[in-house]
Amino acid sequence: MKYSGFLTNLLILIVTLKAATIPNEDNRENKIGSEEEVLEEDHWIEEDINNNTLNQAATIPNEDSRENEIEGVWEEYKELEEQWFEQYINHLDVLDNSTFYQRYFEENTYFKPGGPLLLEIGGEGAITADSVRDGPSYKLAKKLHGKVVLLEHRYYGKSSPFENFTSEYMYYLNVEQALEDLAYFIQTIKRTTPGLEHSKVGVFGCSYPGSLATWFRYKFPHLADAAWASSAPLRAVADFQEYLEVASAVYANVSSLCVDTIRKGYDETKKLLSTPEGKEKVRTKLENWGCGNITDMEPNDILGYIRYVVADHNVPPNHGIESCRILANETVRTSPLERLVEFLLHQSVSVCSGYETDFPNDGLAWNYQTCTEFGYTVTTTSSKQPFNDSRKGVEEDVETCIENFGEKFNMEALQRGIERINRVYGSVNLKVTKVLSVHGELDPWYKLGLYEQNNEEAPVIFIPGTSHCAAHIESEDEPIALTKARNKAEKIMMKWLQ
Ligand SMILES: *[C@@H]1O[C@H](CO)[C@@H](O)[C@H](O)[C@H]1NC(C)=O
Ligand SMILES: *[C@@H]1O[C@H](CO)[C@@H](O)[C@H](O)[C@H]1NC(C)=O
Ligand SMILES: *[C@@H]1O[C@H](CO)[C@@H](O)[C@H](O)[C@H]1NC(C)=O
Ligand SMILES: *[C@@H]1O[C@H](CO)[C@@H](O)[C@H](O)[C@H]1NC(C)=O
Ligand SMILES: *[C@@H]1O[C@H](CO)[C@@H](O)[C@H](O)[C@H]1NC(C)=O
Ligand SMILES: *[C@@H]1O[C@H](CO)[C@@H](O)[C@H](O)[C@H]1NC(C)=O
Ligand SMILES: *[C@@H]1O[C@H](CO)[C@@H](O)[C@H](O)[C@H]1NC(C)=O
Repeated sequence: MKYSGFLTNLLILIVTLKAATIPNEDNRENKIGSEEEVLEEDHWIEEDINNNTLNQAATIPNEDSRENEIEGVWEEYKELEEQWFEQYINHLDVLDNSTFYQRYFEENTYFKPGGPLLLEIGGEGAITADSVRDGPSYKLAKKLHGKVVLLEHRYYGKSSPFENFTSEYMYYLNVEQALEDLAYFIQTIKRTTPGLEHSKVGVFGCSYPGSLATWFRYKFPHLADAAWASSAPLRAVADFQEYLEVASAVYANVSSLCVDTIRKGYDETKKLLSTPEGKEKVRTKLENWGCGNITDMEPNDILGYIRYVVADHNVPPNHGIESCRILANETVRTSPLERLVEFLLHQSVSVCSGYETDFPNDGLAWNYQTCTEFGYTVTTTSSKQPFNDSRKGVEEDVETCIENFGEKFNMEALQRGIERINRVYGSVNLKVTKVLSVHGELDPWYKLGLYEQNNEEAPVIFIPGTSHCAAHIESEDEPIALTKARNKAEKIMMKWLQ
């Protein structure tokens, strides 16, 4: 799985699932910061943690005990070795000299002295060696003789200052510190790398790293000459009701019958789940779906997964028309419920699988950031989406915050954090130059981003028929519009970085 992109989707939805009970051993285990898992994690690291005070944190993670890489990745890209950067834990206090090691990968194949530094920003998940070559920075490196670096975000993957993820230790996890990490890293690497002293710098990111790319260029224009931000949310919000609006518009766009089936099928499922016999019926129908063992799943979690599978347009992108062949096809299955089930059995395998992590705390770290900075709860509060549900998504998520980090992580803290992020980083009214924002029409995240150009110096590319991060990570069988858009984006970046 890539370092960027889909993870945001996954994590956010998982947070809304409040998933202490999600039991799928294979692909869901450890992603959710439930209380139980926190305890488990603490148990796992018990031996190390007693010595893990602030000042002792700066030890290079032990290669042996942390060897988590997927073998194939190493086989293919053996030459890219993990690098470690000694980073301040607290940039905002010059009296605090404690440090930790931040992981990065660098790719110098095309680098020539004077070529640009192209920094691919890590986000809410562990980075991998192969992802260095996935992003647009690598393609630009070929053309501009640049050096590509992918820097892991603090607290994710192997770049955690602490192994204990309880709230005291999470204190240094925030956008402000993360941006300062980038600043100190760029300054240092430029000073110490021959041929890079006077180079231009481009920052790149998709999803949350795209937000960081934007904010970095805004706050440190003297350290970055240009930014490429794909699918970047810039507006923090507690109730992200537009998410399901955009996600269901994809079906409504095919036919009203299609979205109608989702509405009725979901209603029917909800009704069934309210009685023991009905529950059994739903479990039997969905026994073979791809979202985990349904036997012990709570009704709320089942419904959460259904919403999740319906709302995901990443795998495969453009599945809307195909899916509506099932959902809107009255000749195959008679009832909306049957058609929804058929769709779920078909689609859930690709949506719910494909994400594994060896870093169980990544989910917890992201949960901390959503609890204190972003919100992003995908709710059913809009009337322009098919899930008739009275659930209180934001409140449920805040409960999870409290479970994971303590009583103080309440609604008031969340609101204040969100307001601060929007105040300090300007939300979608941010005035920036040489920031390229790229969004996809099928990706609900564009609603929180810069998707309408209001400033010539901050161009926006909005790509029809594409989903989250599609412009950032190339795949096979792309629509022509996407390839064209990417070429255009590359040209803009070339101009800024030449
Ligand atoms: C993690 O930190 C918390 C708060 O300081 C502490 O109560 C807990 O014992 C720590 N966990 C471990 C495994 O040391
Ligand atoms: C803490 O570190 C000291 C010095 O490295 C070591 O002697 C001691 O055994 C460690 N304690 C624990 C609980 O790991
Ligand atoms: C950190 O500060 C302390 C106290 O001033 C000092 O003794 C120590 O050498 C410093 N450590 C580093 C790595 O600079
Ligand atoms: C709606 O359908 C048109 C025509 O097929 C397509 O070009 C467009 O991308 C679709 N929009 C959405 C949001 O699905
Ligand atoms: C699902 O969970 C139930 C109860 O925990 C167990 O009996 C069953 O074997 C599991 N099914 C699969 C396919 O793992
Ligand atoms: C409905 O399903 C049948 C059988 O799978 C298929 O032949 C037919 O083309 C479908 N109709 C539509 C409108 O997609
Ligand atoms: C939503 O569900 C409630 C209770 O199940 C029902 O009373 C209401 O009519 C439904 N609303 C719509 C728009 O279907």
